[in-house]
Amino acid sequence: MTLRIDLLQLLKNNGDHYISGEQICRQLGVSRTAVWKHMEALRKMDYVIEARSNVGYRLVSVPDRLYPEEVQADLETSVVGSEVRYSAGVVSTNENAKEWAREGAPDGAVYLAEEQGVGKGRLGREWFSPRGRGLWFSVIVRPQINPVDVPQITLVAAVAVAAAINEQTGLVPGIKWPNDLLAGKRKLCGILTEMNADMERIQHIVIGIGLNVNIYQEDIPQELQGVITSIAMETGRKINRVQLLQAILRQMDYWYQIWISSGFNAILEKWKQWNVTLGQRVQVSTLKEVVEGVAEDVDETGALVVRLNDGNCKRFLAGEVSLRKEK
Ligand code: BTN
Repeated sequence: MTLRIDLLQLLKNNGDHYISGEQICRQLGVSRTAVWKHMEALRKMDYVIEARSNVGYRLVSVPDRLYPEEVQADLETSVVGSEVRYSAGVVSTNENAKEWAREGAPDGAVYLAEEQGVGKGRLGREWFSPRGRGLWFSVIVRPQINPVDVPQITLVAAVAVAAAINEQTGLVPGIKWPNDLLAGKRKLCGILTEMNADMERIQHIVIGIGLNVNIYQEDIPQELQGVITSIAMETGRKINRVQLLQAILRQMDYWYQIWISSGFNAILEKWKQWNVTLGQRVQVSTLKEVVEGVAEDVDETGALVVRLNDGNCKRFLAGEVSLRKEK
């Protein structure tokens, strides 16, 4: 694989110019047969490479795929993206990531897919994950933290994704506690965090992120019409998914390390800047109850503090929030 990556890099560095087979062999220190074999492999991956006899090769176009070769090129993160596994289609990237984590995936490993058969949403819902239209991926982390602090990582991820979307597209997403990114009232991104831990020690956490990127109105099934949106729908342009994913991984790497080294406060401050929950009337549904009130704060543990209709305050570490109209 490294030879394929080096070959691809060489072709990219040459831009519109042709590079001779001889020059490629010399620069990579390999035989003509090896170059030819990897050139064919790249073509099978839908890279368009023009070959002119007696002149050489030229990269004409790069496919719209999230190949690890593309995602890891110049990524330069220290933890997130340490290893990347790719699949054209899986049932759920969270499931594959959990299996990989049990087999020993390193801290920061990323499992991504072009399409999910039955993407997992929160509360047993299904996550719409059409082929090539979004970023459906799971990040495996192994922080040495107290298991009670784990819910904070969803907020860390939400901050990172919001910052990356904003940096890459200019869009200003809103975070609805704990894990939804919205554009207006419609859902742009969801985060599903799952963990494997005993009482004192975390084995691993899988942060599953589903971001609607190049989905258009006509792709959306009836039951989700008006409920979800995508970056392309909001900005009116097709987005380069590799660049966006790299930006997310860099932001996650940055905020994850701030969280580990300095604690949750810095994250919380940033989270509040992106949030659209605080100050709103909300309904919070948990496994035990459904309550209404005003979302007053997110505290230093990441819990949502709601002033209930009877005047009492209640903290929620998990739950589904819906924003209500002011009475
Ligand atoms: C939600 O319901 O808001 C959470 C949705 C999380 C979806 C993502 S897509 C990638 C990862 N793999 C899954 O099966 N689910 C998460």
